[in-house]
Amino acid sequence: MKQQVIHSCGPLRGDISVPGDKSISHRSIMLGSLASGTTEVQGFLQGEDSLATLLAFRGMGIGIEDLGGGWLRIEGRGLRGLQEPQDVIDCGNSGTTMRLMMGLLAGQSFFSVLSGDRYLRRRPMKRVTVPLISMGARIWGRCDGERAPLAIQGGALRPARYDSPIASAQVKSALLLAGLYADGETTVSEPHLSRDHSERMLKYFGATLRSFDGGVTVSGNPRLTGREVFVPADISSAAFFLVAALVVPGSELLIRNVGVNPTRSGIIDILRAMGGSIELLDARERSGEPVADLWVRSSSLRGVDIGGGLVPRAIDELPVISVAASFAEGVTTIRDAEELRVKETDRIQAMCDALNAVGGQVESLEDGMRIVGQEHMRGGSVNSCGDHRIAMSMAVAALRCTAPVTVTDTACTETSFPGFWSLLRQLAG
Ligand code: S3P
Repeated sequence: MKQQVIHSCGPLRGDISVPGDKSISHRSIMLGSLASGTTEVQGFLQGEDSLATLLAFRGMGIGIEDLGGGWLRIEGRGLRGLQEPQDVIDCGNSGTTMRLMMGLLAGQSFFSVLSGDRYLRRRPMKRVTVPLISMGARIWGRCDGERAPLAIQGGALRPARYDSPIASAQVKSALLLAGLYADGETTVSEPHLSRDHSERMLKYFGATLRSFDGGVTVSGNPRLTGREVFVPADISSAAFFLVAALVVPGSELLIRNVGVNPTRSGIIDILRAMGGSIELLDARERSGEPVADLWVRSSSLRGVDIGGGLVPRAIDELPVISVAASFAEGVTTIRDAEELRVKETDRIQAMCDALNAVGGQVESLEDGMRIVGQEHMRGGSVNSCGDHRIAMSMAVAALRCTAPVTVTDTACTETSFPGFWSLLRQLAG
């Protein structure tokens, strides 16, 4: 099993780039495949998760050429141009691949099976199967449809209105994709707005969508047209270097071309509320998504309370935010974040165990964490639980520990951030 030993370091300084946005990379393959004509993608994330989506669409007859340097050319075959895959679709560790594809496959004229690694096969799927079945989808899975492998017999779908009890972009996106295959309007509402990349990209490709307070409506049977898609750098990957620069004294980093979609930029609001110095430079829009360069300087942080609508806007960054909180003055409380328990691993438990193992003072709550900050932590040995964001968060924590931190099971960082360890090494010396 791979492991990394991380030592504390001097100031992090430089002008860096992090890989492409994972959520937008998945969607660029999906919509590029369903569009008519050619889609060129710039900045595609060459991580295991988005590559699982790429391979799935190649397996359904879509020509996708890797032009090198993060450029892809997708020869879209239209809304009804996919072919029946000849094998089980392997989603690897990627919940986004599995859940979004369930919606899309439910409306096809063929049979398909979705599976994934041991972590993904433990994750809840009824949140998607149940509303899809109400649209007429035929889906079967282990544990009464709760767990993969999932078998899908595609067919005709009815439009629906679904009030999702959770703020989940994966649930919302699965239903919007299914709605493309239903005659009429499909509406999804959610308690707080989750990331809206599907809505933005569907519009960008020519679908008819109407957003309203609390939800979105999509019209079925659109004609999607191939386009050029620029994938910004992933704010979820930039997050590790934002926190690293804030907590290592004397640091100053410029992170280029980061996606700052307001449904994703909760981390910037939270770190600024903690006293962090982060500036957005050259804010612009590309392919329907807001982008900026982020300039971050080390700062003294103080504890904050995090909850409500801020949580879905920072859901994937809460592990590394708990690291920032461990070095802040005072107490940070994270509430309303029970969704963390059903991510790649139980991220509440995994971060509590990992931070406490290196000398942190963290208490797990049913729906979050209570973190008492301190000047330094001690260091020690932690396990990533096979979860990329736990591994990278603890690498950041190590930068301000008095002794080294050994992180075991680190190959998982390849799912979202190939090159993480070398970039960290390059900056930390
Ligand atoms: C994602 C949505 C989020 C996030 C995940 C990626 C997406 O999950 O945690 O990493 O690309 O749609 P939710 O479905 O809980 O919003």
